[in-house]
Amino acid sequence: MKAITLAKPGGLDRLSLVDMGDPGAPGPGEIRVRIRASSLNYHDYGVVSGRMPTEDKRIPMSDGAGEVEAVGEGVTEFAAGDPVVSGFFPLWQDGEAAVADFKTTPGDGVDGYAREFVVRPATWFTHAPKGYSHAEAATLTTAGLTAWRALSVDGGLKAGDTVLTLGTGGVSIFALQLAKAMGARVISTSSSDAKLETLTRLGADEVINYKSNPEWGKRVRELTGGRGADIVVEVGGPATLGQSITACRIAGHIALIGVLTGRSGEVPTAALMARQQKLQGLIVGSRTHQTDFVRALEATGLKPVIDRTFPLAEIADAFRHEESGQHFGKICLEI
Ligand SMILES: NC(=O)c1ccc[n+]([C@@H]2O[C@H](COP(=O)([O-])OP(=O)(O)OC[C@H]3O[C@@H](n4cnc5c(N)ncnc54)[C@H](OP(=O)(O)O)[C@@H]3O)[C@@H](O)[C@H]2O)c1
Repeated sequence: MKAITLAKPGGLDRLSLVDMGDPGAPGPGEIRVRIRASSLNYHDYGVVSGRMPTEDKRIPMSDGAGEVEAVGEGVTEFAAGDPVVSGFFPLWQDGEAAVADFKTTPGDGVDGYAREFVVRPATWFTHAPKGYSHAEAATLTTAGLTAWRALSVDGGLKAGDTVLTLGTGGVSIFALQLAKAMGARVISTSSSDAKLETLTRLGADEVINYKSNPEWGKRVRELTGGRGADIVVEVGGPATLGQSITACRIAGHIALIGVLTGRSGEVPTAALMARQQKLQGLIVGSRTHQTDFVRALEATGLKPVIDRTFPLAEIADAFRHEESGQHFGKICLEI
């Protein structure tokens, strides 16, 4: 089978398309999946660029979608031909968060899905939403599930709430779409006026250019009659958290998701305390969260926004496209 491997110490020029041995037939409790698509995340970029060191010859990519080719003894949840999508934390099946690292995450601590075939425990996958293409399903593992958990599981979103999304990457666009589908009002930011127009077309009620309006937190307060957003989908990190605290309402919820502006920095803790906000760190979600999310997608008919799709062999170009920041929503690989 064809696969992509990453040579140490990483870097886009160290990604190679290689021939590998076929993974064979599934054993008890396992399924064999023909992987058809993956999608790029900032995390995958961290791994392939070498900023998040991994083992030599690692197969990258956390997201994988395709169809079941064969099921092993005892597997009743799936049958041959079923479309499936991989999980980000394959060992976190249910309950409270139980992981704080990427040791079990495909494409980081273990081999990922930049490959044609895989044999894995059935519990490492869930059904994909009915009517989804494989590329659409591949966007759910990381970006989609993170947005779902931030809004629905942790944020307790309800119709009429105001949600603030930052930038136009995979997580933020998913959050915008989900929030609209669930009856929320959405305020979205971007560095690009052209992207702000696309955000409006996608349903954002108000948009703000965070480059020309560095006090965007204040602007969110103005746009909400002084109240602030109920939920902030915080993908920026240290350089945006201060404005997010300003933008969030008293006793509101800030979902701390991203590191786009760095891994540590100064936080206005007194403002957070005075505004009595909840700051919840999160990494993706459990298998149960994913099955709930798939059900929600089937009920709402929501489809992810795919910016561009690249063939597997052009994986480095796909990451260069992500690096350029020109994308809007998800970048996918067809395998
Ligand atoms: N905790 C988790 O579970 C989890 C899961 C997925 C992702 N993440 C993290 O969330 C972040 C976003 O991930 P992604 O995959 O959605 O990334 P992505 O698709 O690469 O998103 C990049 C976009 O972020 C926007 N951006 C960059 N700097 C910004 C800033 N200072 N303020 C506001 N927006 C900014 C830009 O939008 P414009 O071009 O519109 O300005 C850019 O196009 C990353 O840090 C990633 O590691 C965390």
